[in-house]
Amino acid sequence: MIFYPLSTLMLAGIRQVLLITTPWDMPIFRKLLSDGSQWGISLEYAEQPEPNGLAEAFIIGADFIEGDPVGLILGDNLFYGNGLSETLRKAASTTEGATIFAYSVREPQRYGVIQFDSVGRPVAIEEKPTEPKSEYAIVGLYFYDSDVCNVARQIIPSTRGELEITDVNNHYLRAGRLKVEKLGRGIAWMDTGTHEALLQASNFIEAIETRQGLKIACLEEIALRLGYIDVPQVMAQARKLGGTEYGRYLMNLTKGL
Ligand code: G1P
Repeated sequence: MIFYPLSTLMLAGIRQVLLITTPWDMPIFRKLLSDGSQWGISLEYAEQPEPNGLAEAFIIGADFIEGDPVGLILGDNLFYGNGLSETLRKAASTTEGATIFAYSVREPQRYGVIQFDSVGRPVAIEEKPTEPKSEYAIVGLYFYDSDVCNVARQIIPSTRGELEITDVNNHYLRAGRLKVEKLGRGIAWMDTGTHEALLQASNFIEAIETRQGLKIACLEEIALRLGYIDVPQVMAQARKLGGTEYGRYLMNLTKGL
């Protein structure tokens, strides 16, 4: 699953990544992903010992961010669709304010929900409201300017005891510094936080990959196309994976290059 958010960040043009996870999961991620150099990116790791909320990422990661603009993606979110890379690149290049994305869903109450006024301007975001004021959920992908670390430090825990990303977003909204972009129905946004949602996402990916004979979120392929790694590096990865289907896919990528 972790390959999907990583691919999204890479497609946004982000090459320096801090992976924040629990102390228990960290060694597993480190073993699986190492330092990211195999994909021409830099991967660092940090612990979030307690589930204190998403906004804590900007406190844990403050030294890593070091006054730069930053993107945050949730590990269980999956994005797929034509034109997505351009949208992401544009949002990631923002150096002032914040950009977040809204997506129409059947059960908005499971998410942060954004209300728009009659001319489509964002009014407020509510975290998991029992009576949602729109069908637009805020997806788990956010881009901020360097102020975000200070904003996160000012947030107080919500009734569920978490530093809410929704409070950070509302802060930017009240300051007139929040851009909300709607992702259209041609883009697939899935979260895989429940067994059912994970199965649905797996079926979706499997159907497209089988039909096209192409892989979604193949990090070596993305890195090669972006020029982050070269053909010999892809070949080296392919050889490591031996005769697996993934290894053969990588080998195929290098043909004719
Ligand atoms: C989090 C955010 C919520 C957002 C959702 C997207 O929810 O708090 O605003 O809509 O991610 O996946 P959580 O993962 O905490 O349930």
